Amino acid sequence: MRWLPCSGNSNTKTSKSKKKKKMEQMTVDQLKPVSDKSRTDSSSSGETSKRQGSEHVAAQTFPFRELAMATKNFSSECLLGEGGFGRVYKGRLESTNQIVAIKQLDRNGLQGNREFLVEVLMLSLLHHPNLVNLSGYCADGDQRLLVYEYMPLGSLEDHLHENPGSKKRLEWNTRMRIAAGAAKGLEYLHDRASPPVIYRDLKCSNILLGEEYFPKLSDFGLAKLGPVGDNTHVSTRVMGTYGYCAPEYAMTGQLTLKSDVYSFGVVLLEIITGRRAIDNSRSAGEQNLVAWARPLFKDRKMFSQMADPMLQGQYPPRGLFQALAVAAMCVQEQPNMRPLIADVVTALTYLASQKFKPDTQPVRGSNLPPATPPRTTRDRDKKLNSGGGSERLS
Ligand SMILES: Nc1ncnc2c1ncn2[C@@H]1O[C@H](COP(=O)(O)OP(=O)(O)OP(=O)(O)O)[C@@H](O)[C@H]1O
Ligand SMILES: [Mg+2]
Repeated sequence: MRWLPCSGNSNTKTSKSKKKKKMEQMTVDQLKPVSDKSRTDSSSSGETSKRQGSEHVAAQTFPFRELAMATKNFSSECLLGEGGFGRVYKGRLESTNQIVAIKQLDRNGLQGNREFLVEVLMLSLLHHPNLVNLSGYCADGDQRLLVYEYMPLGSLEDHLHENPGSKKRLEWNTRMRIAAGAAKGLEYLHDRASPPVIYRDLKCSNILLGEEYFPKLSDFGLAKLGPVGDNTHVSTRVMGTYGYCAPEYAMTGQLTLKSDVYSFGVVLLEIITGRRAIDNSRSAGEQNLVAWARPLFKDRKMFSQMADPMLQGQYPPRGLFQALAVAAMCVQEQPNMRPLIADVVTALTYLASQKFKPDTQPVRGSNLPPATPPRTTRDRDKKLNSGGGSERLS
């Protein structure tokens, strides 16, 4: 699905270019102080920022000619995919022989200019193994191109939803590793970048996969610096992708870190169920994944029916239960009832470490585990048992 404003707040789109310039400038100014908290946190893991500080803000620039050559003049044979902002090509850089993914933004998209700027700045400042690496960019004339590390296995969306039968089935262990890795990327943005960064565009097509399905978050054009000081939220026009947007953000434009946690819950649900966030080909009650899942969360007997049929019953029943419990907490309607991403990382890292051997442990639908939700947050039980459908989303 295309990137789009996810509510009817289109009136704000008509803002004057002067105002827009000011907002761009604000973004640049605000971005300067972004640093990795881990610099002063000796207790953090080895996943520290590779390059930190303003001396690394400048990303490498590429001449348009080099990128045109790398992609055989943006030929269709090099095309990897197309999103809301433009096309993505695979290419080989002449200077380094490096294989890269080159995103050519639509030049007529006024909106894209700001996203281009934010993407370059964010990815120049933020570095983590679970964030895609920006090799550089090209802004020659009116060209706007972004050069990323090439992710050989494409996006999670490709594997879950696009002709899944034509690809190797994503096994349960792999799914949990992808979920845990994506959560770690988000944790870095929320808890280790300073000020925190709200990603705002978490969805399966923005989770790219490297060797061995190692996940990395991509597309930071919508990312926002989070609230600082006593502020609890930042106010912004509503952008994102329908189906992933937290209900309170869609309704009020008030953005918090918990908006990302909601989107993460939707992605986790997609990973578990194999269903799309929004699927108009399904019957009315099943088109919105969260609205479909909420009543089922309340009945453990239904859990086995929520598992992706592509798994063919090859999953650990307890693992399925626990993963669904995490997803249920993340998509709670009340933002303050959702867990912190750090707690999600703890739970999913544990689930990813529990190796399930598909062929030796066949699972029957009725084989349900005892009710032991993961200890992700202090008030996990309360969170799990509350719920209620989000009419706004359905
Ligand atoms: N670094 C990369 N390496 C390999 N493939 C990539 C890379 N970046 C993007 N792609 C491929 O290109 C496709 C299009 O990506 P793009 O980010 O433009 O759009 P999208 O994520 O599908 O939608 P949206 O514009 O709403 O974010 C992706 O789904 C993915 O398959
Ligand atoms: Mg994308």
